[in-house]
Amino acid sequence: MKYSERFESLDLGGGEAELARRFRALREGGVRVFDLTQSNPTRASLAYPEAAIHVALSNPDVTVYRPDPKGMLPARQAVAAYYAERGWPVDPEQIILTSGTSEAYSFLLKLLCDPEDEILVPSPGYPLLDFVSLLENVHLVHFPLAPPAGTDGRWRVTREALEEHVTRRTRALVWIQPNNPTGNVASPEEAAVLRSFAEAHGLSILVDEVFADYCRPGVTFTPLRAEEGLVFTLNGISKILALPQMKLSWIVIEGAAGALRDARERLEIIADTYLSVNMPVQTALSALMTHARPVQGQIRARLEENEACARALLHGQDRVQCVLPEGGWYLALRLPDEVDEEAFALRLLSEAQVHVHPGYMFGFGAGAWLAVSLLTPPEEFREGLARIIAQAS
Ligand SMILES: Cc1ncc(COP(=O)(O)O)c(C=O)c1O
Repeated sequence: MKYSERFESLDLGGGEAELARRFRALREGGVRVFDLTQSNPTRASLAYPEAAIHVALSNPDVTVYRPDPKGMLPARQAVAAYYAERGWPVDPEQIILTSGTSEAYSFLLKLLCDPEDEILVPSPGYPLLDFVSLLENVHLVHFPLAPPAGTDGRWRVTREALEEHVTRRTRALVWIQPNNPTGNVASPEEAAVLRSFAEAHGLSILVDEVFADYCRPGVTFTPLRAEEGLVFTLNGISKILALPQMKLSWIVIEGAAGALRDARERLEIIADTYLSVNMPVQTALSALMTHARPVQGQIRARLEENEACARALLHGQDRVQCVLPEGGWYLALRLPDEVDEEAFALRLLSEAQVHVHPGYMFGFGAGAWLAVSLLTPPEEFREGLARIIAQAS
């Protein structure tokens, strides 16, 4: 059978698949595995307002199909209200609903790129973008974030790294803040660098803010809003409400009036082709959004508890180090440079029954890294991390 050549570049059945296969085999064999990759909030022992969710989903409007490529107005108004609460006035006309942030990325690559064009993305960064771009025939070009110097540092973007990777085919710059999995957010100086770089090269900016509500206390979140050019801000309820199964995200389009109108017209054509956002979630959105705080509060408490545990367990040893994130649901652990991440993750699973993501999955360049989820139930997190330290020692 002839398949699209796009799959030729994938390592189907390679290292990651082997780790996942061995994890499944252990679980199916009844072995207790400490799974530090869990980032599905609906399986993280959080208390959801279930009755209120059921009520929100029984809005009588749901029985009439009213297709609108941008998404239903009441749902877009609920999104605008979310931003108004955060001091950003957004007109519902600037909003396009999508069935997930991945779909939002896909739409934006269709809008901005021709086949073989390029987009710049931070590395380490969110691995799903590799697949989204592969499916859109766009090349991902990774620009490296400067790693932290010591455990007090942070991951940073530099103008030099951006300039080194831009070409005449570059169409857009992706910025994720807080980043997955390094947890960095742009300082005001970095935000200025990103904006002036994009302006100098005529690039649109795609800002992924899905973890914006999970910044650590004291961290200043500097939004990347448009001054010149187009900025597309992505977010959704998979993280805001911890409801990934509802499949609702959005794009906020920002830019000068003419550019905004042109972008919106084109995005509407793309969205109209699929009309993928289901009506039940659109009719429920404004009611669902009123329940953000309790769930977010539980998640913040979980992140804090696991971070405190990591600080305590990692203190006083030098085999495993971490840089505490400024936001997000992940923690990056640094192992001694001589360690082979992939072999370590496989050994950790078979010898200590701990499942982690090896750093190469996220494009950590130099050094040996693991990424673990801070959403893991605390007892499991504690035992898993203790075993990682023992395995590395
Ligand atoms: C940075 C980032 N963006 C987007 C998403 C996906 O969001 P959605 O579930 O809305 O597609 C994730 C998922 O973990 C993520 O880490």
